[in-house]
Amino acid sequence: MASRFDSLIQRTIPAFRNKRMTLGTSSVGFVPTMGALHEGHLSLVREAREKNDIVVSSIFVNPTQFGPSEDFDKYPQQLQEDARMLEELGVDIIFAPNKDEMYTDNHTTKVMPEIFETTAEGKSRPGFFTGVATVVTKLLNVVQPTNAYFGQKDAVQCCVIRRIVEDLNIPTNVVIMPTVRESDGLAMSSRNAYLMPEERLIAPVVFKSLLAGEQAWLDNDKQASAEEIVAEVQKVLNQEPMVNEVQYVSVDSNINMLPIDSVGPEGCCLSLALKCGEVRLIDNIVFGAIR
Ligand code: PAJ
Repeated sequence: MASRFDSLIQRTIPAFRNKRMTLGTSSVGFVPTMGALHEGHLSLVREAREKNDIVVSSIFVNPTQFGPSEDFDKYPQQLQEDARMLEELGVDIIFAPNKDEMYTDNHTTKVMPEIFETTAEGKSRPGFFTGVATVVTKLLNVVQPTNAYFGQKDAVQCCVIRRIVEDLNIPTNVVIMPTVRESDGLAMSSRNAYLMPEERLIAPVVFKSLLAGEQAWLDNDKQASAEEIVAEVQKVLNQEPMVNEVQYVSVDSNINMLPIDSVGPEGCCLSLALKCGEVRLIDNIVFGAIR
């Protein structure tokens, strides 16, 4: 069915490249997404719009980053509504390929950022970062942006992308933007739409618990063991019975997201994943740095 966004949305790689060529050789800002856009995504798009001549955003629910029991089939899809928001912010091209365009029957190559599979988030979602690294490498090769924008909300993902760009000599500058939150502290996420009203009410406990962990470190002159920080986080989470599965609370280097035992003034990244009802929520804060 024809829609008013047909000229904005490119569905194939050749069509994307043709359109890209007509826009000339100026700087290109790129925001890759899986759609179901919210203010977190839009903050990246606004920054890209401000700093580049051309802005490209992709919308692709990447099958290779979903585990067999995850939500690939029910991941929210709202392409027309997303296109409306992106058009309003002045995006020049939306690249929205289907699965067969990105992964042909002969597709075999994977980008495996092995060390990140050993992070808390990597262990919790086996194969996830290989799926992310593979699709982001492919998207960067298709779009060839000057600058690519990612959110701190997905802390390990940011490290993975910095590594692939450096390791594979991809000529793109990676820009990481702070996590955008609802007024009650809940990190914005497309998956928040799955929360039942009573779960949505208690979901801010995620951010609250992370802040309690940071407070323990602040109260002790910016010195604390990982164990002490995790205990403070857990104490807050334990008060909320609707949190039914804490998958991890992890204290990591804010440079490479690998675990550390103690945190000094240099800070750390404190992250967690839990299930609130059936919905998996993740969040993180970086101590001693802008969030
Ligand atoms: P998606 O979850 O759609 O997120 C797209 C981008 O928006 C990511 O860089 C993510 O970190 C950022 N983002 C999400 N919520 C945010 C928030 N509350 N504040 C700031 N930024 C936020 O992340 C992915 O898609 C995929 O893994 C992708 C990189 C597109 C590869 O498939």
